[in-house]
Amino acid sequence: MKIHEYQAKELLRAHGVPVPRGYAAFTVQEALEAAQKLGGSVWVVKAQIHAGGRGKGGGVKLARSITEVETLASQILGMQLVTHQTGPEGQKVRRLLIEEGADIRKEYYVAALTDRATQKVALMASSEGGMDIEEVAHATPEKIL
Ligand SMILES: Nc1ncnc2c1ncn2[C@@H]1O[C@H](COP(=O)(O)OP(=O)(O)O)[C@@H](O)[C@H]1O
Ligand SMILES: [Mg+2]
Repeated sequence: MKIHEYQAKELLRAHGVPVPRGYAAFTVQEALEAAQKLGGSVWVVKAQIHAGGRGKGGGVKLARSITEVETLASQILGMQLVTHQTGPEGQKVRRLLIEEGADIRKEYYVAALTDRATQKVALMASSEGGMDIEEVAHATPEKIL
């Protein structure tokens, strides 16, 4: 299943899971309009590609003004985003998620995945969420349950 973060969040929202407000944008103009609709003073401009590690690769940026949303949207839209999950060729960014900025105290990692060996759905969780779960798995595997 390949869906983007904004599509996953729409599904979660529809089922009552609290997620940050945000709008998908396919153009810089739509990104601007999304930020205006959201209001507030901090926005996050997020590249929508089918891979994680976007923050580290420069595909997730915080904006503190509408002008900054515009600048970042024009930088990120169309870029060839390389993360440790895309391979060296990267993926072209064709859409963005403009989201309200959250005051993050703690990030967790939770994933549901098909375990081919046991032919069951496995749940993985870690207190060490954020941007580099691969590094957590490598350096401190005991922190992933
Ligand atoms: N709505 C938000 N408000 C504030 N910071 C955010 C928001 N969304 C993401 N971030 C920050 O950007 C980082 C990267 O975003 P994330 O969604 O985890 O993408 P990825 O895992 O692909 O790098 C997060 O770890 C968090 O620190
Ligand atoms: Mg992350």
